[in-house]
Amino acid sequence: MTLILGFDDYLLPAQQLAKSLSVAFKQVKLHQFPDGETKVTLPTTLPKHIIICRTLNNPNAKMTELIITAAAARNQGVKHITLVAPYLCYMRQDIAFNPGEAVSQKIIGNLLAAYFDSVITIDPHLHRINNLNEAIPITQACALHATGAMSKFLQQHFSQPVLIGPDEESEQWVKAIAQPHQWPYVIATKARFGDKNVAVSLNIKDKNKAVSLSNRDVIIVDDIASTGKTLEQAVKQIQQQAPMSISIIVTHAFFVDNALTRLKDMGVTNIWSSDSVLHSTNAFSIIDTLARQLKKINITD
Ligand code: R5P
Repeated sequence: MTLILGFDDYLLPAQQLAKSLSVAFKQVKLHQFPDGETKVTLPTTLPKHIIICRTLNNPNAKMTELIITAAAARNQGVKHITLVAPYLCYMRQDIAFNPGEAVSQKIIGNLLAAYFDSVITIDPHLHRINNLNEAIPITQACALHATGAMSKFLQQHFSQPVLIGPDEESEQWVKAIAQPHQWPYVIATKARFGDKNVAVSLNIKDKNKAVSLSNRDVIIVDDIASTGKTLEQAVKQIQQQAPMSISIIVTHAFFVDNALTRLKDMGVTNIWSSDSVLHSTNAFSIIDTLARQLKKINITD
């Protein structure tokens, strides 16, 4: 028997996950003490396997609560704890870019490995490593992609769009969505000069042939929209080709500092994201993708 434990900041998706797996759901109760500490209360009876489902945007307080929850569950006799974190925090800082910088990916990865038997996430921010278990050293660390859910969603809205990846890294996702439908795609190149300063350059060619964006429905695909600057720069480039429409689809939506308004003001028709992070742009779900993977998890007592 398995139980899903969720938190009030990611309640509905966690409940949907329980429903899709036909397992019970219970909520972890949190109480804030006046000094900012959290009291964490778990259900008093837990099965041998539990799945803790919480997305880890704004992670600092959530991480503490998560570790307390996992340790308390273990104290109650739980044998196998799976973490489902649709957005996984602290994955981008995988090397020290400057002397003194902590390599937080390794530190947080080791912390999660100490408390969880399996970890599942969607499109984590991995740059220089290929497998999630290089960051979280456990066998069952699994990074899934939102591309299947994106593809299904986009198919309902367009028949022959052109996909754009705003940087080299996005090619993997763009290709996975475009190729089954034989949709043309273009991968731009990006240079980043700071958190909010990027330059995107669009070479309007897919591997062998020129791709015209003129009068086409163009969709920019990316894993994450943080400041939205990458998308803004891509939109500027695309607009020079007079497309019919520009849409944006991302896995993780942050769109900080009015990025959403700026993109809409630039004339972007649709801005869509998955429910990995709760946001007003959520339009499709990655819960079924997670559920399919959870069914494959190998649980040993
Ligand atoms: C880059 O590696 C990612 O795939 C995104 O393109 C990037 O993180 C988006 O960041 P921002 O919205 O701040 O430009």
